[in-house]
Amino acid sequence: MDLPSPDEIRAMHQKYAPSGELFDRVFTHCEIVWKVAERIISLADCRVDPELVRAGCLLHDIGVYRLYDAEGRIDGQSYIRHGLLGHEILKSEGLPEELCRFCSCHTGVGLTKEDVLVQGLPLPPADYVAITPEERLVMYADKFHSKTTPPTFVSPETYQKYVTRFGPHKAETFKALRTQFGPPELQSLATAYGHELT
Ligand SMILES: [Fe+2]
Repeated sequence: MDLPSPDEIRAMHQKYAPSGELFDRVFTHCEIVWKVAERIISLADCRVDPELVRAGCLLHDIGVYRLYDAEGRIDGQSYIRHGLLGHEILKSEGLPEELCRFCSCHTGVGLTKEDVLVQGLPLPPADYVAITPEERLVMYADKFHSKTTPPTFVSPETYQKYVTRFGPHKAETFKALRTQFGPPELQSLATAYGHELT
């Protein structure tokens, strides 16, 4: 598969970002997710294609831009749709399904058709679940940094507590990801970016 280069992905973010401020926030988050994934790859015995993981990390949140209106207001209720919106953007750019799926399959620890129906989520009923090792790693690495204002790094323990509110099954899924990939080293990244580690 022909992967877009980091510079090409950056240009794609710039194309869809409604403002420079939002581009900075989202693209910096995507770069951080790649740095987290890079650390996990170097420490864990996980057989993944690092170039594919890098492209997935850099692209996964491109759909966030579609949630903003012309006045720069975010449609917070539809936030859960950003993965699917990103999938649509990449598809319209002619990128292969393998890359589009990094967007639609990274939310939380995966959304099942049952989640969509039971929780009444604003998504077409379907499974949005990371399957390949690369998809699972991008989804996992994404959990350790949040685009909140101000942005923060999130420890495995903090995310474990957070995800428990979505039920024991989700908590188990995150535990399985922790076992598969191990804990990332976050403190030096938090210091480098000046973001708090919670
Ligand atoms: Fe993300």
